[in-house]
Amino acid sequence: MTPPPPHDATAETTVLDALALTSDPDLEGRFAESAHRILADLVRGGAALGWVEPPSRDEVAELLDHVLSAVRAGDAALRVAHLDGRIVGLGYWLRYARPTHRPHADLEKLAVDAAAQGRGVGRALTAALIADAREAGIEVLTLDARGDNADALHLYRSLGFTEYGRLPDFVAVGERRYDKVFCMLDLRRQD
Ligand SMILES: CC(C)(COP(=O)(O)OP(=O)(O)OC[C@H]1O[C@@H](n2cnc3c(N)ncnc32)[C@H](O)[C@@H]1OP(=O)(O)O)[C@@H](O)C(=O)NCCC(=O)NCCS
Repeated sequence: MTPPPPHDATAETTVLDALALTSDPDLEGRFAESAHRILADLVRGGAALGWVEPPSRDEVAELLDHVLSAVRAGDAALRVAHLDGRIVGLGYWLRYARPTHRPHADLEKLAVDAAAQGRGVGRALTAALIADAREAGIEVLTLDARGDNADALHLYRSLGFTEYGRLPDFVAVGERRYDKVFCMLDLRRQD
């Protein structure tokens, strides 16, 4: 079978927001399972998602509970990508907790199943999260990425994020060290 061409097939990608999930307990349960599978498999394969070891089921469930509570409070957005009827990706942003940073939010844990990468899913998720941030009146959307994560950094730059700083050799994975790259999208300055 011919493999799918890279970076297309966006038409088959459906990006749902968290409200669609929480309205259906069955869907929410399946989402927690899929999110764990996607995140744990990616970390196992060396992905730069903040974990050295694959997160446990409980750890991911706790994280999702936290994000979904924040979504209900208007302090977060969570997007889930479906491709060909399967959950293949997720991403979210959380408003900063520090009182002086409340107008701003940080995008975290953008993750697409390895088998579904290169087909526009990550781009669709990130674009939806940016639109959510705009809609919620977020002023500055930040994120950080590991310096060697060229695909992710290319994606973020292509959607308008700019680098505002870098901590050299800050990310520790065993004995290896990588730069931590800080990016921002100032939504006050965009149309
Ligand atoms: C980063 C990630 C979310 C991108 O998701 P994706 O669905 O593969 O991305 P898309 O198909 O939407 O492609 C977006 C860009 O990423 C790059 N890219 C993604 N997959 C690629 C691949 N297999 N080969 C080459 N480039 C690729 C391309 O530069 C593409 O840009 P283009 O549209 O101009 O060609 C995904 O690779 C991933 O989950 N990586 C592991 C976790 C991670 O690093 N998350 C980010 C933490 S900061």
